[in-house]
Amino acid sequence: MSTTAAPTDEVTVSAHAKLNLFLRVHAPRSDGYHELESLILPLSLADRMTFRRLPGAPGVQLHVATEHGGDLSAGPDNLVAVAAQALSDACLPGDGVEIELVKRIPLAAGMGGGSADAAATLRVLADLWQCGASEEELLAVAATIGSDVPPLLMGGPVMVRGRGEIVEPTPVRGVFHFVVVPAGFPLRTPDAFAWWGKDGGPVADGDTSTLLAAVRAGDTVALGSAMFNDLERPVFARHPELARTRDTLQSLGAVGVVMCGSGPTMAGLFRGAEAASAAAAVIPGSISVIGPPPSSV
Ligand code: C5P
Repeated sequence: MSTTAAPTDEVTVSAHAKLNLFLRVHAPRSDGYHELESLILPLSLADRMTFRRLPGAPGVQLHVATEHGGDLSAGPDNLVAVAAQALSDACLPGDGVEIELVKRIPLAAGMGGGSADAAATLRVLADLWQCGASEEELLAVAATIGSDVPPLLMGGPVMVRGRGEIVEPTPVRGVFHFVVVPAGFPLRTPDAFAWWGKDGGPVADGDTSTLLAAVRAGDTVALGSAMFNDLERPVFARHPELARTRDTLQSLGAVGVVMCGSGPTMAGLFRGAEAASAAAAVIPGSISVIGPPPSSV
């Protein structure tokens, strides 16, 4: 999350999308979640959120506008409303808040858009409502909202373990240039995990130490060949068009291609800004992004 203006009663922030540079999935736990290991990189692509304090009028008013189509509820099921309610329950503020969300991150695309919005909501409201919550308390509230919310609350590149709630900031040198290609259809996260189980579970033999060394060194080519995602195989089996998107990105010079989170967006890594822009120019609907965004380097 990055703040662009911070007067006392109104704050506007960017809630950044994310890319899992690798995603390793382990066996399901007794609570139905899967143990994960992942390196999460925030991207420059972001939703815009404005928060206005409503003095003495407790409650949350949410307004949603989507820039690239798709229907997103402004009701209590929106993760922004869920986050605001969870924090309100924990800190009992005397004031309410009006929130405007301008959605730019594709919906149900594996890029963590809803989780980024929830994380930004927690960060801003904890301040606006003067909750006095510690980082540990905020992370605990974040984990009740969704597995991707704790890492996105951190605001920088993070290693993730557990079901997503064990987070550790990770150094990344420089920025990496990606082209993300939304698939044009939504994919439900539980489906991707369920398909992984149906297809026999563990798949990747990805080498995470090589990948971590590559991001620490800012080595684009080494990162490109080390990226992997255990959910790719089961998702590609149901959506073979995603393999074609991977091939297109490779043919346009991507040094590596990986599916974003639980999919279906695909991300290609390019050697620099020019190569990424050139590829984005010929793939309809694609977006050229950098990670991490300047505010979280
Ligand atoms: O935590 P969140 O609500 O975002 O997770 C959505 C769904 O994704 C879960 O209900 C579960 O099916 C799946 N999931 C999982 N293991 C994780 C994270 C998510 O199985 N570590």
